[in-house]
Amino acid sequence: MRKIETLIFIIFFTFFYSCNKTDNLIDSSFQYADVQLRYMLNHIAEYKDDLSNNRILPRSLDVNGNIYMVSPSDWCSGFFPGVLWYMYEYSHDNFWKVKAKEYAEKLAGQRFNKGTHDLGFMIYCSYGNGYRLSPSEEYKTVLLDAAESLSFRYDSIIGCIKSWDLKDSPWQYPVIIDNMMNLELLFEASKLSGNKKYREIAISHADKTMENHFRPDYSSYHVVDYDTITGAAISKNTHQGYSDESVWARGQAWGLYGYTMCYRETGDIRYLKFAEKIADFILNQKNMPDDLIPYWDLLAPNIPNEPRDVSAAAIIASALYELSEYSQEYSARYKNVADTIIKNLSNNYRPKTGTMYGFLLHSSTGHWPRKSEVNVPIIYAEYYYLEALLRRKALG
Ligand code: GLY
Repeated sequence: MRKIETLIFIIFFTFFYSCNKTDNLIDSSFQYADVQLRYMLNHIAEYKDDLSNNRILPRSLDVNGNIYMVSPSDWCSGFFPGVLWYMYEYSHDNFWKVKAKEYAEKLAGQRFNKGTHDLGFMIYCSYGNGYRLSPSEEYKTVLLDAAESLSFRYDSIIGCIKSWDLKDSPWQYPVIIDNMMNLELLFEASKLSGNKKYREIAISHADKTMENHFRPDYSSYHVVDYDTITGAAISKNTHQGYSDESVWARGQAWGLYGYTMCYRETGDIRYLKFAEKIADFILNQKNMPDDLIPYWDLLAPNIPNEPRDVSAAAIIASALYELSEYSQEYSARYKNVADTIIKNLSNNYRPKTGTMYGFLLHSSTGHWPRKSEVNVPIIYAEYYYLEALLRRKALG
């Protein structure tokens, strides 16, 4: 073969070989998930401990390695049904659809819960995926009721949805970066109902958050407090990070995912550019480990001896796959980074089959300052991991 032909052969071979490797990774990860999640379902079916408290959905493992179950009103309740819907989306196996419906419908009553900004996580991950994969009037009604309940928490002077109603709170009107994720439910509700109100609330919240939550380098604060009379931002703090000025890993991930989603829903180029800036900040962190699974806070004091947060990595990977579809300049970079993350998660952060109650990934960190859910499997890591795998598969 001439030199040029050899070169073309090598390029094509490398391309097909790497596509094939990614397909294998996705398939083998779902095969693993199939085994682990059936194991988890068996455990949950036998779980009788706290039924009086309605703890019927898996969330994480506690310090003793026991499963931590939560009620439908917990902010994490929607992720397990969402995981089951993703299993159905991948496999088209009716077994997963039946289970997904069973667990999603345990959240039906939450549609009227006006006490949490996390209703978007709860209802969109469960009913939103359910409606997407198996549309019905019943699911649509739940989504619309939930959007109405969530919009009850919006204040037009501040222009944001309130995050927490804490007793003895140091804040008047706390808004956390995580809340960007709840906007997806509102965008969906406007599409389903034709009522622009939900979408307008989502856009206002995203714009205010852009204005007040971000530092000049595009890292984000966790909590911004607003004055309820003037609507002005009055303090910028953390709750789950190491310090007010530190870089709480999952918060950066929520922002990246949130603005990517806002671009999808609005086509507003400001959101795309903003998501690119956040990605740039995250990917250029000097404290980011080589395997791209971040420490729980990228300015935590004892790096490299700090717990990782696998959930942040999974959210970042899922967001980057989506962003790679929109970004003109950085598409290949985002896809490569996300590929590295899912490869490392699948190869190095998996419990052995038949252990850890069937969770799919270890080493997430929920709330380090409270020493709660540190270095354990947490259900939202699994949700965004499976979502990332599906997004990768769709990219081809
Ligand atoms: N929304 C709470 C968290 O990310 O831990």
